[in-house]
Parts: sequence; structure tokens; C-alpha cells
Amino acid sequence: MCEGVPLPALAEVAGTPLHVYSRLELRTRVSALDTAFAAYPHDLHYAIKANSTLAVVREMRAGGAHADVNSGGEIEVALRAGFTPDQIVFTGVGKTHDELVRAVTLGLKAINAESPGEMERIDAIARAHGTTARVAVRVNPDVDAGSHPHISTGHRANKFGMTPTQAHAMVTSMAARDHLKVVGLHVHVGSQITDAEPLRRGASAIADLAIALAAEGIRLEHLDVGGGLGIAYQAAQTVLSADDYAAAVVPVVQATGLRLVLEPGRWVTAPAGVLLTRIVDLKTQADGRWFVIADAGMTDLLRPALYSAWHAIEAVERRDGPPIACDVEGPVCETSDTLGKGRELPPVLVGDLLAVRDTGAYGAVMASNYNRRTVAAEVMVDGSDWRVVRKRQTVDDMLQWDM
Ligand code: LLP
Repeated sequence: MCEGVPLPALAEVAGTPLHVYSRLELRTRVSALDTAFAAYPHDLHYAIKANSTLAVVREMRAGGAHADVNSGGEIEVALRAGFTPDQIVFTGVGKTHDELVRAVTLGLKAINAESPGEMERIDAIARAHGTTARVAVRVNPDVDAGSHPHISTGHRANKFGMTPTQAHAMVTSMAARDHLKVVGLHVHVGSQITDAEPLRRGASAIADLAIALAAEGIRLEHLDVGGGLGIAYQAAQTVLSADDYAAAVVPVVQATGLRLVLEPGRWVTAPAGVLLTRIVDLKTQADGRWFVIADAGMTDLLRPALYSAWHAIEAVERRDGPPIACDVEGPVCETSDTLGKGRELPPVLVGDLLAVRDTGAYGAVMASNYNRRTVAAEVMVDGSDWRVVRKRQTVDDMLQWDM
């Protein structure tokens, strides 16, 4: 079941592979995170990259969140979901001229600048348009996030942000410019972080810098500590609660008196989604275990192939009998195309449904047309109702840009 709706009924009508979201879970999680920070002035800017389906983004907005975007496309998603420019922060290590023009002319709450060169480009665009751009400076605190290397961003060897020393020099030199207003500092040390220390150290790098700038008479509006709070993909995994997260970050930021900005993505949306997939083939392996071949693969959920990520996989219809040892694989012609290796499932038959858990973040957004597979549909469940919130791509949709 998802809320009051049986998963087989969804698969029957909407087909598979299918991303299924629970509206209740989305709302519950965004408000739980908000409540954890209630004691300190803050704004949750939902990281749209985690799940940018308009219906999901609109739920985040209805739950009181603002938006964090990472590209021109995500700026437009945020606007269409109803966010106003002063509710949007814009990060991105390679913002193009056109994206910066759009951000500056909209007057976003903050453009999180990644380099001194980008600050200069933003300044020039703001001057040309006779406006003042609101900028936050992204600091690279040289912190090891302790998560997968592909999603760790706060180490000095990573491409993101600039050193605290560079950031300090730049803010001092730019504070007097007419067309640039430095409103904050930004840090994001990585994603799927399960330990408080890297999050605390990232926050303290920008808090220390804010205090040094204040001593020079440069007053900011906010400290943006990014996202990164991890979830338990495996039941036994130890993770931080929302309260642990607040306890790690708030005391550090409190010393500055500045408003706190957070950019959560995964924590709010991942557990609110499952990927529903149908078994298309079964065969034995040389060692006696089974290959369970599903109709969803790396084009629908890239995380296992890209990060060796673990997602719980459950049989939707329970059958009696001894469990089978298996690898659950996708249909794409790559050995990396897997949903989960070394699993145990109840006995299953071709045609049975599997639910892959915690796919509400970095699932649908990372879809591709590799192997010319069409992109899966997405549905939102609300109590005993549900609706398609993103149509399944057709072959004609997929081929419409080919000349
Ligand atoms: N803010 C910035 C600047 C970010 O780069 C990210 C994620 C977030 C916020 C949100 O982080 P979260 O709260 O979701 O951890 N595709 C990968 C995750 C990439 C995260 C990229 N940046 C995965 O599937 O694990």
C-alpha cells in the first residue's frame, strides 16, 4: 500500500516502471524538519534537484519551504511551482551567462557565487541592467563529508566554492560595489551525511568568517549551510535525526545572530517515494542464486549503478515458500545496471511487482533515455486518491527532437 492505495492497482492503471509518491509523507517530513529548527530563525530552501517534478515541488511550497535551484531549468521549475524570486537561492558550479542574466534580472534572494570570476561576471551583468545583485559566497571548508566520494563536495580537492581566505579577501574587496550586495555565506559539504561532525564543521567555517567580516563592519543577512542530511537506506544504519541535525548546526550559527538557511533535498523526499517495477524474467546463476530481471533499471534509478547505493527491495505480493537468494537486475545492456545485488526475496514469479524503497530523491530526476528507454511515469497518492503527476514518456515524445 501507499497510504490508502494498493500498489498493484497503481501498476495496473499507470503501468511500470512507476515512481509513486506519498503526499502525506512529503508534507510530514518537510514540517518535521521545520519543527526541529523552530527555536532559531531559519528558512528551509528545498533543493529542487532532489525531485523536480512540479507536483512534488508544489507540495514543498505548500509545506512552507522555499527553493534552492541549481540551473536555469530549476529556476523556471521554482517559478512555475509558485515561488517568488525572493524565495529562491541559486547555486551551481558552472552558471552560464544566460542563467546569470535570468537570476540577476529576477532579483533572486541569493546567487551563491562559486569563484571570484563569477562575482565579477555577476557584478557586470547587474551594472548592465542597472540593478543590484544579491550574492552569497560559497566557501569550501575543506571538510571530508564521510559519504560516497561522488557526492562529497566540501573537500579542498573538490571543484566547489573557494577557500575561506579567498572568500574573505573577495567579500572585503567587493563590499563597496554599487551593483553587488553580499548578503550571505554558503557552504555545502556533501550529501547522504550520517555524522554530525562534517555538518558542524561546514557551518562553523562560514560562521567564523561571518564573525571576522562583522568585525570589519561587513554585515550579512544569512548563513546558508546547504543540504546533506542523510537517511537510513538500510534499517540498521545509524543516521542523524532532524533534532540531532539542528543541535549540530544551530549553536554554531547562533553565535553570529544571522538567519539560518538550509537546503535539504534527500531527507525530505527520498522516503516519500518508491519505484514500482515488474519482474520480466527469472533465471538461475552458476552458484544457484537467481537473477531477477526487472523492467526498471539504471535509466529509472541510477543510484545503484553510479554509487553502488543500496535500496531496500520488497515483493509487493507475498507468496508462501522459502526465500530465494538473488540479484535484482535491470534490463539495460550494462553489467552495472542493477537495482540490488545479494538480496533475499520471497518466492517470486515473472509478472510480480517489486517496490524499490526510498526513491523519492535522486530517482526520477536522474532518469535517461539510454537504450532508447522511455522515461517512467510518476504518481502522487493522497489518502485513497491518486493522480498521475508526470506522464509516461511515449516513443514519439522521445523522438520528437530527432531530425
Ligand atoms: N545544496 C547544494 C548546493 C547541493 O549541491 C545539494 C546536493 C543539496 C543542497 C541537497 O543535498 P541533500 O540534502 O539532498 O543531500 N545524486 C546524488 C546526490 C547528489 C547531491 C548533489 N547536491 C545521490 O543520488 O546520492
